[in-house]
Amino acid sequence: MSNQDKYRLLEKKRQQALLGGGKERIDAQHKKGKLTARERIDILMDEGTFQELDALVEHRCHYMGMEKNRIPGDGVVTGYGKIGGRLTFIYAQDFTTFGGSLSKANSEKINKVMDLAIRQGAPVIGLNDSGGARIQEGVDSLAGYAEFFLRNVLASGVVPQITAVMGPCAGGAVYSPALTDFTLMVEETSYMFLTGPDVVKTVLAEEVSYEELGGAGVHASITGIAHFSCQDDVECLQTIRKLLSYLPQNNMEDPPILESEDDPQRMDMELDEVVPDSPTKPYDVREIISRIVDKDSFLEIHADYAQSMVVGFARFDGRVVGIIANQPAVLAGCLDCDSSIKGARLIRFCDAFNIPVLTLTDVPGFLPGTDQEHRGVIKQGAKFLYAYCECTVPKINIITRKAYGGAYAVMSNRHHRGDIVYAWPTAEIAVMGAQGAVNVLYRKELAKAKEPEKLRRKLVDKFTDKFCNPYIAAELGYVDEVIMPHQSRPMVIKALRMLEGKRDYNPPKKHGNPPL
Ligand code: HXC
Repeated sequence: MSNQDKYRLLEKKRQQALLGGGKERIDAQHKKGKLTARERIDILMDEGTFQELDALVEHRCHYMGMEKNRIPGDGVVTGYGKIGGRLTFIYAQDFTTFGGSLSKANSEKINKVMDLAIRQGAPVIGLNDSGGARIQEGVDSLAGYAEFFLRNVLASGVVPQITAVMGPCAGGAVYSPALTDFTLMVEETSYMFLTGPDVVKTVLAEEVSYEELGGAGVHASITGIAHFSCQDDVECLQTIRKLLSYLPQNNMEDPPILESEDDPQRMDMELDEVVPDSPTKPYDVREIISRIVDKDSFLEIHADYAQSMVVGFARFDGRVVGIIANQPAVLAGCLDCDSSIKGARLIRFCDAFNIPVLTLTDVPGFLPGTDQEHRGVIKQGAKFLYAYCECTVPKINIITRKAYGGAYAVMSNRHHRGDIVYAWPTAEIAVMGAQGAVNVLYRKELAKAKEPEKLRRKLVDKFTDKFCNPYIAAELGYVDEVIMPHQSRPMVIKALRMLEGKRDYNPPKKHGNPPL
């Protein structure tokens, strides 16, 4: 073979790899409203930066006629490139090739980029679109999955891991997205479940569609497994780019600092009007967030899940902060099973990746009731508490209104090594609200009273005056400063600057034992 023939052979193999499962299957992919693995990578990565690895890898299976059916690349496109100018590793399952199913050879490609990402200290993005374990390969495919899961766990807390589920993801395959830091799903074209509708029908005689069982809506609002639900592939890939802009490359680095055009001294006088005069009236905490952070910098995470808490990333004077905020507009901002897990997950991510945590507290307590108690609100709340206590990155809290009872002790506070606690004059920091306190403390007096309602009102007013304010906590030094709402932005920025070099450690241990 001449050199020219050899060069032509290489080109032929490259072209074959680029075509994946062929034009017909690419057309079928498009017909479903999905992009191919390569088209997705083109949108995700900075133009011209993607460098593929292992494009010529083929499977080694000799069963069921597979030996005659080999496609270079073997159902996954892997490599590295840049997103926002920063090194990022990627694997994108190619549904056009053997349904993107995971073979041993194809898992080795994924594991190679995972190993490189861990060693280089750069994020890994997975674009999932796969029929699961390569059926013809049997246990070899399962071995591939297991080795892949191991890397997800080893990479956890070392480099950010993001998975976008952009097609099928079923059976044990779901555990990779579940192990990563952030999961995105695409509406209508993606689903995730352990056992599909057919098995559900056989075992439980229950008819359910793919979307109803494990579509993007289900995971973004009910299970919380998806952090983002996106309308289509393009929105999903753009959301990954945006999300990455808030994250450091690895656990030894800080998130990128952007030049901010928003004045760090800016005071928004309308903040003084956000909390209503009546303590029982709701307001939308997003009003506060959007007014204190750098303009348009808030990226909400888990927007449709556990909505009595709002969480996300934002910037203050260009520096990234994780925000945990009770949402008085939903369930009065009560903590519950789901919001506890939602909050805990973001706090632990921030702690692992050097992102300060800002808490906005307005919480009347934990949501009461058998549903919550039986779902283990004790254990779920403990996860949230554990996350705050364990966290050693800068912790700033602004108590805007209620900080009652157990919820005060669970949320960010001075006693859990919180660094700075501000309270607005509207803050109410007490064991419980005035109504509840009066009912407990004056039960006998109220039972005997000739005019119990009149007495109750008097006692409630007295309790409110005495306890439902920030001043007892401020006298005790549990609140560092009572500030006007409009001062919040400059005060947070000042505190963040002061805390920039913060060092704090937990006692040496192999790892803690959070109440899973
Ligand atoms: C090998 C597979 C495959 C698989 C799909 N294909 N899944 N090949 N192993 N797991 C192939 C199909 O044979 C077909 O090949 C091509 O991919 C496209 O599949 P279609 O069925 O034509 O596509 P569609 O109609 O869109 O249906 C997609 C699907 C379906 C719903 C995902 O393919 C399906 O049900 N696949 C099997 C899913 C499954 O049970 N997987 C194992 C799960 S258990 P041709 O040549 O015709 O184009 C598991 C365990 C993991 O994954 C455990 C980890 C610990």
